[in-house]
Amino acid sequence: MTNEVLQMGPMYPPTQKQMDESFQLHKLWLAPDREVMLKDVAGHITAVATSGRAGIDAATIARLPKLRIISHFGVGVDTVDTVAAKQHGATVTNTPDVLTEDVADIAIALLLAAVRKIPAGDRFVREGRWLKAPMPLTDTMQGKSLGVVGMGRIGRAIAKRGEAFNLKISYQGPNRKNDVTWPYYKDPVELAKNVDFLVAACPGGDSTQGLVSRAVLEALGPTGVFVNISRGSVADEPAMVELLKAGKLGGAGLDVFADEPIVPEDFFTMDNVALAPHVGSATHPTRAAMGQLVVDNLKAYFAGKPLLTPY
Ligand code: 8YV
Repeated sequence: MTNEVLQMGPMYPPTQKQMDESFQLHKLWLAPDREVMLKDVAGHITAVATSGRAGIDAATIARLPKLRIISHFGVGVDTVDTVAAKQHGATVTNTPDVLTEDVADIAIALLLAAVRKIPAGDRFVREGRWLKAPMPLTDTMQGKSLGVVGMGRIGRAIAKRGEAFNLKISYQGPNRKNDVTWPYYKDPVELAKNVDFLVAACPGGDSTQGLVSRAVLEALGPTGVFVNISRGSVADEPAMVELLKAGKLGGAGLDVFADEPIVPEDFFTMDNVALAPHVGSATHPTRAAMGQLVVDNLKAYFAGKPLLTPY
């Protein structure tokens, strides 16, 4: 078996170097004519490497009859058509675990940033406004509760951090988890009614599209804060903007957006909103570890060994 890989989009440069050294790559995003490259490799390619932005859709999978592995850079596989891959007989691998702690750190950072108005305070100092008057007081993290939507690996890591900040934890998801004792809600609106802060840590994709609906955000209410480190698709973004503007939602800390990198400009002037450019896993050590998994899954596949992290 050759070690030819069809790569859909660019990767973290140190990972790209490893990819270049380890495999014979067909770089689809650099092809002068995508159709010509697809046609050239279609007859024999068995392995694809991709990532969040590029993904791979059902039509492209169908063009590659011998495809057996899609090695994906990222824990979320919402841009990979996993149903089409399965039907096709191709295994999707992703990069779980190695990014959990960094992503959970960003969730708590955004919560603190929104509640204690850290970005607003930063602007207050830089713009010389402190010279004229002290900054208005903010709400506190203390004595509050945190609802976690999606009690998976990242949700648990956020909950653990939440407890260290004295937050009372509860959660929502499709199923109650037997190995945690925090209160469970089936209905996200019920969870939102019963907490001060809400963080979305569930996977993206069809099953969670709009899960944090207008009703959920309304239930969180004028003093509630919503944090999203999952996918923009999980929340009703227009409703969020509207409710924040009307003072019917207290604040937000957002790492992900419906149409990123395009972010609704309404957020730019809101002092109760903290924004980040999808950086949950964007640290050098974590991106290197994610890339290593992409490479190692492909190497295992070519060696006929069990895949390390099948989705
Ligand atoms: C990356 C992520 O931004 O792992 C994920 O699901 O959202 C991030 O770690 C992205 O997937 C990189 O392609």
